[in-house]
Amino acid sequence: MSENHAAIAECLRRAGLLAAGELPVITALSGGVSCDVFRIDTAAGTLCAKRALPRLRVATVWEAPVDRSHYEVEWLAVARAAGLTVPRVIAELADEHVFFMDWFPPEDNPVWKAELAAGRIDPGFAAAVGHALAAIHTATRADPAMAERFPTDALFTALRIEPYLLHTARAHPDLADVLEGIARQTLATRDALVHGDVSPKNILCGRAGPVLIDAECAWYGDPAFDLAFCATHLLLKGIWHPQWQPQTDAAFAALHSAYLGRTAPALRTGIEQRTIALLAAILLARIDGRSPVEYLTAEADRDRVRRAARELLQTPPTTLAGFGDHWRQLTGHP
Ligand SMILES: Nc1ncnc2c1ncn2[C@@H]1O[C@H](COP(=O)(O)OP(=O)(O)OP(=O)(O)O)[C@@H](O)[C@H]1O
Ligand SMILES: [Mg+2]
Repeated sequence: MSENHAAIAECLRRAGLLAAGELPVITALSGGVSCDVFRIDTAAGTLCAKRALPRLRVATVWEAPVDRSHYEVEWLAVARAAGLTVPRVIAELADEHVFFMDWFPPEDNPVWKAELAAGRIDPGFAAAVGHALAAIHTATRADPAMAERFPTDALFTALRIEPYLLHTARAHPDLADVLEGIARQTLATRDALVHGDVSPKNILCGRAGPVLIDAECAWYGDPAFDLAFCATHLLLKGIWHPQWQPQTDAAFAALHSAYLGRTAPALRTGIEQRTIALLAAILLARIDGRSPVEYLTAEADRDRVRRAARELLQTPPTTLAGFGDHWRQLTGHP
């Protein structure tokens, strides 16, 4: 057993999840950038373990405080109470930055990113993601106790504001004022509990709909961030495979209309405009920020996104539907 696996086995023992003398079967899952994730088979059943890494597995050095693991556990509990389908947390060892949760078998719960990458783009599923986000934002809105439970401004700044907005501002000095303004506005908005990483790679396609995971960037702040972050991925899939653009456009429209139709009226004030600003900024960040998308490799595609995002930052449309139309025109092939 490797050192890593032995440490996880010890955590299982401490959490009371192993019978005396029992040796679990521990299988490392590939793919985690910020954590080690394991499938664990014990006599009592299968579960999933997640342990935060102090340094993210990306090309540039990117350190992140390991207590983010605890806020993921907290987010999962709040989401479950709000009626979302998420893994149930079975035990947490906060001092080890490890927690154990329900196992969602991949054969029944494929990662949405893989579905999208295979061209299976279902607007109905995107709408269900919009409904799930509306549900957790609505359940946590204007709640000072909830805000206190997530004292994660520093984490969110280090993991989201800096790499996406401020890094991009440095790459586009002529737009620095706009991007820094969006960063300030985002940090100043304290409306609801934000997941912070609503990417298709963090959404499983469960039988009953989306299963949200990976809430290490949880923060009490601007719900527009979740909607914009997720929408970015849908629009970029249509650049990657232009033949899919009708479906990615439909998925984008389904996501935002489902969200806006279901979220609490009190949250709706200004949210569309803030989402539009963040969407343009994060699209640009996915090219020139600290965490660019790996699948847009052709410089012509990257430049189409760059030009369109810059234009949409400078002249923001007034509605998300209008954003979709402009995006199509600006990125369309001649
Ligand atoms: N409860 C679970 N049941 C089954 N598989 C899971 C579970 N949680 C995570 N996984 C699998 O492990 C992968 C990585 O998990 P997660 O996204 O939480 O880790 P991460 O290291 O933060 O990932 P990244 O930083 O790459 O987004 C998921 O994409 C999924 O395939
Ligand atoms: Mg993930």
